[in-house]
Amino acid sequence: MLSYQHEYHCGNHADVLKHAVLACALGALGRKPAPLRVLDGFAGSGTYDLFGPEASRHAEYKSGITRLLAAAERPGGVPAALTPYLDAVRAMNPDGRLRFYPGSPALALALLRPDDTVELLEQHPRSLRVLRAAVRGDRRAHVHDRDAYEGLPAVVPPKERRGLVLIDPSYEVKDEFKRVPQLLLDCHRRWPQGVYAIWYPLIRDPLAERFVGRIAATGLRRIWQAELAVGPKRAQGLWGSGMLVVNPPFGLDEALGPVLGCLHAVLAEQDAALPVARWLVPE
Ligand SMILES: C[S@@+](CC[C@H](N)C(=O)[O-])C[C@H]1O[C@@H](n2cnc3c(N)ncnc32)[C@H](O)[C@@H]1O
Repeated sequence: MLSYQHEYHCGNHADVLKHAVLACALGALGRKPAPLRVLDGFAGSGTYDLFGPEASRHAEYKSGITRLLAAAERPGGVPAALTPYLDAVRAMNPDGRLRFYPGSPALALALLRPDDTVELLEQHPRSLRVLRAAVRGDRRAHVHDRDAYEGLPAVVPPKERRGLVLIDPSYEVKDEFKRVPQLLLDCHRRWPQGVYAIWYPLIRDPLAERFVGRIAATGLRRIWQAELAVGPKRAQGLWGSGMLVVNPPFGLDEALGPVLGCLHAVLAEQDAALPVARWLVPE
């Protein structure tokens, strides 16, 4: 039985990085009119109540999305590439007070078009219940009570042959640092043209520290890396996180440089390393 609940962490610096990259990638993909499909393997609860008992326990969102929204109001603001993401958060809070935060399913649905679709895989019974309620009534969304490691390779390629696979595990089970590169290879073998976005934590753990190297060692080409440290290297707990994007859509690399610079300026402590926005593996 899985015990991780994203409710405790929603809207934190890691969500902000992940959702900023996801929003930019969907924006870039959406520039072509053909329909696309998002395959969200580790969907979570869909939307989050920041005033709920779990989210308010440590109120991690206050050093994440709260800070970014405040920065967007200041002169100079934030890069335009962040606007669709922040507008999706604002749209969930029409009275201007931050209470609800979109997880990856709600964010994708906010950014996608009428003919695009989203497949949502989740296994935690409570998250599944909340997720189903969150997307009810939206015909573009399909929820699956399914293990991502088995399910994602089975649902690629989508019939549209255009879209993005989001791989965002909790790494609650340490062997996930080995399973995710294999999952990527299993999906890529079936759908080499797909866009794959993979989140990873920066934590003090030998398996976690070897993760990016393992992805590079898959032999796949065209992998973009966006990494944001918010605290000193190898601090206790989650001191940052990263996103690896295989086959980034055209223009994503150029958009993400300023985005990472801004997230670092707004979210990182002084002794955090500079952000990374680079080709991990080029063409
Ligand atoms: C980090 S959270 C997802 C957050 C979400 N992607 C977002 O950005 O809002 C990871 C989720 O994956 C679920 N999960 C863990 N292992 C899974 C598996 N093997 N298959 C499907 N879902 C899984 C957990 O229950 C949890 O809700």
